[in-house]
Amino acid sequence: MPFSVIAGLALSGWLAASSHTPPPEPALGKKIYEDRCKVCHGVRGDSNPFTASVLNPPPRNFTTEAAKKELSRERMIRSATEGRPGTAMMPWKNILSKEEIQAVVDYIRRDIMRLKD
Ligand code: HEC
Repeated sequence: MPFSVIAGLALSGWLAASSHTPPPEPALGKKIYEDRCKVCHGVRGDSNPFTASVLNPPPRNFTTEAAKKELSRERMIRSATEGRPGTAMMPWKNILSKEEIQAVVDYIRRDIMRLKD
């Protein structure tokens, strides 16, 4: 492995580690959403009009009543971890830690879907 790749990995590991201390859970979920999910799921979680027009199926609109009923916390964590085969929703398990996936799912549920749990 060339040195620059190793240095890059070390740096990204350091950045990831530093974002854990102290654990600002709500802020972490928001940051991950904005960095990783907003591009497809949209600023307000009702999906980005551009990605919605080019992806089939389109990114999930989290703000509908149907989504609020259908998407349990467990299902959202599973879908974010494993992805949705055959769709643009990729698995995040190699990119985000379990804690980060939970943080972003909780952010979506609390701040975007406005659920109480
Ligand atoms: C490249 C575009 C894209 C990005 C980036 C993306 N998603 Fe998705 N997402 C999709 C698509 C497309 C679907 C619809 C999949 C389907 O209909 O089964 C989806 C569906 C979902 C669902 C619902 C899955 C279900 O069980 O029905 C959840 C939860 C979700 N995304 C969470 C996230 C999270 C969290 C992130 C950021 C870490 C993220 N997504 C980033 C495209 C994306």
